[in-house]
Amino acid sequence: MDHHAGLRELLRGIEVFAGDDLPTFDPADTPAAPEELFVTWLRGALAAGVREPHAMTLSTVDAEGHPDARVLILKNLENTDAGGWQFAVHAGSPKGREPAAHPRAALTFYWPPLARQGRVRGPVAARPAQQAAADFLARSPQARAEALLGTQSRPLGDLAERDRRTAESLARVERHQDLVAPEWTLYELRAERVEFWQGDAGRRHTRLAYLRAADGWRRQLLWP
Ligand SMILES: Cc1cc2nc3c(=O)[nH]c(=O)nc-3n(C[C@H](O)[C@H](O)[C@H](O)COP(=O)(O)O)c2cc1C
Repeated sequence: MDHHAGLRELLRGIEVFAGDDLPTFDPADTPAAPEELFVTWLRGALAAGVREPHAMTLSTVDAEGHPDARVLILKNLENTDAGGWQFAVHAGSPKGREPAAHPRAALTFYWPPLARQGRVRGPVAARPAQQAAADFLARSPQARAEALLGTQSRPLGDLAERDRRTAESLARVERHQDLVAPEWTLYELRAERVEFWQGDAGRRHTRLAYLRAADGWRRQLLWP
């Protein structure tokens, strides 16, 4: 039985990459390092008014090899040979445990008004604890209170419990400004591959991959 009458037609009728104002992307005019192009695209998304342009889908694999994905915020991007794409998590949440069990991940950015996607993949490692602590202390009191509870992704009885425990935790943070959740972890993904995809209303999409090589980055056009 069709419980969602007309859904197929609704989906089929939604226009993709509509409009004549999408940016152009010339892969011949790109920097040698993908981080530089990424920051240009991120700034472009910010200027275009994209909500949370620094939000990305973090894909990980659990200990049984099952894929998992969720959206979170990019914390920093270190443009050094050893450095990379940083995100912070509570070690007790699935997105904290999974990179510990299987230290590889993928990041996906999507900036809808620009029809642009960014994809990054590679191994993940934790940064030193004092960097995680510095990241933690730079968070807002509300965000620190949430993380100090350490309950993320666990079953919740009702919303009143959420509000009560968060308020208690916030009061504790306000009394002890230097509290750091010891499970707070700053992970860094060292990119092996970074891909840029520019959508086009006429379906002449452009796709450029940066592949890490021994002496830097190799650029490769791909069929979109
Ligand atoms: C735009 C957006 C940004 C988010 N940013 C974060 C974030 O920075 N940190 C975080 O823990 N969860 C963030 N979330 C919630 C996560 O997507 C996710 O629900 C949560 O982290 C639990 O994931 P897990 O159970 O896989 O560990 C964000 C969600 C959205 C929609």
